[in-house]
Amino acid sequence: MKKRIFSGIQPSNVIHIGNYIGAVKRWVESQNDAEKENIFCAVDLHALTVPQDPKMLRERTLELMALFLAVGLDPDKSILFVQSHVTVHAEGAWLLNCITPEGWLKKMTQYKDKSAKQEIVLTGLLDYPVLMAADILFYDTNEVPVGNDQKQHVELARNIAERFNHLFGETFVVPEPLIAEAGARIMALDDPTMKMSKSMAHVKGHSVNLLDDPKDIERAIMRAKTDSGSEIRFSKDAEKAGVNNLLTIYQVLTGKSQEASELDFANARGYGDLKKAVAEVVISATEPIRNRHKEIMTDRAELERIMRVGADKARVISEPRLADVKRKMGLILP
Ligand code: TYM
Repeated sequence: MKKRIFSGIQPSNVIHIGNYIGAVKRWVESQNDAEKENIFCAVDLHALTVPQDPKMLRERTLELMALFLAVGLDPDKSILFVQSHVTVHAEGAWLLNCITPEGWLKKMTQYKDKSAKQEIVLTGLLDYPVLMAADILFYDTNEVPVGNDQKQHVELARNIAERFNHLFGETFVVPEPLIAEAGARIMALDDPTMKMSKSMAHVKGHSVNLLDDPKDIERAIMRAKTDSGSEIRFSKDAEKAGVNNLLTIYQVLTGKSQEASELDFANARGYGDLKKAVAEVVISATEPIRNRHKEIMTDRAELERIMRVGADKARVISEPRLADVKRKMGLILP
């Protein structure tokens, strides 16, 4: 039996190299693994958990779909769809809400961080991980490739699955988070003690975004914060976080080992050489994506067709599980 893989990304703001390295690049690798059946979703309902401009959200959702294709996801090999096109997600989240203790949600680190920054905390923000659990569980997902910051949410999905199975009998597959060894937490270029974050992506120098032009990429990386030393090596020391982050980006994008990556800089004259090399690998990884994205965005009708086909395939998998759950919970099926 093939393993089922499900993952998602929000169409909010731009997509940065942290999202690419921690998640999307690994989805493309997963797609090329014959033992896996892959489902990738643009989670527009999740984006609504913080205020959005409606026109921008529509545009970004379309752009994200185009980005899926531009990075190499193939609608003939993977299911690619928009979350709100499949009503199972919202309906399933409601059903799971009714078995999820609110205390579980209030403990989520991301909720605590994000809610502290909002004047009005929307109920959707608290409920966000239950919607994410519905995304995962209604597809009988085995593995969820995500960055480190989503691990706690996948663990919550496991807890919800186990609780449902305990209350109503074996129903949901209990999913595993798949976290990469390298690059699961790419740090901000301007402050390597903080993770690179979409909500800060508009701040110059914070991140490199997949669709940035080469000049901006070079500028952001050349200005990346490092320490006052000159040693180019992987390190867990707080003061070497900047160098460690740049080396990690280099390692993942070149596909080299840690040792081979360090060796490439054995004769470097300083951090300038490291930054130049990182800028080069980031530009050569992102430039083809940027060019393909531009081209794909010119054919909206084709993008919309791909979304429709993806949503049709997603429904075939998730609707029977939704009916099963409704019946087990005591609802009369129409
Ligand atoms: P989102 O849109 O914030 O991020 C998308 C993916 O990028 C990863 N990521 C990072 N990886 C490494 N370094 C970073 N600095 C970094 N920042 C983000 C995230 O871990 C994620 O894998 N709730 C999710 C989307 C979601 C989902 C799902 C994921 C909704 N339903 C079901 C998996 C399965 C989110 O907001 O990701």
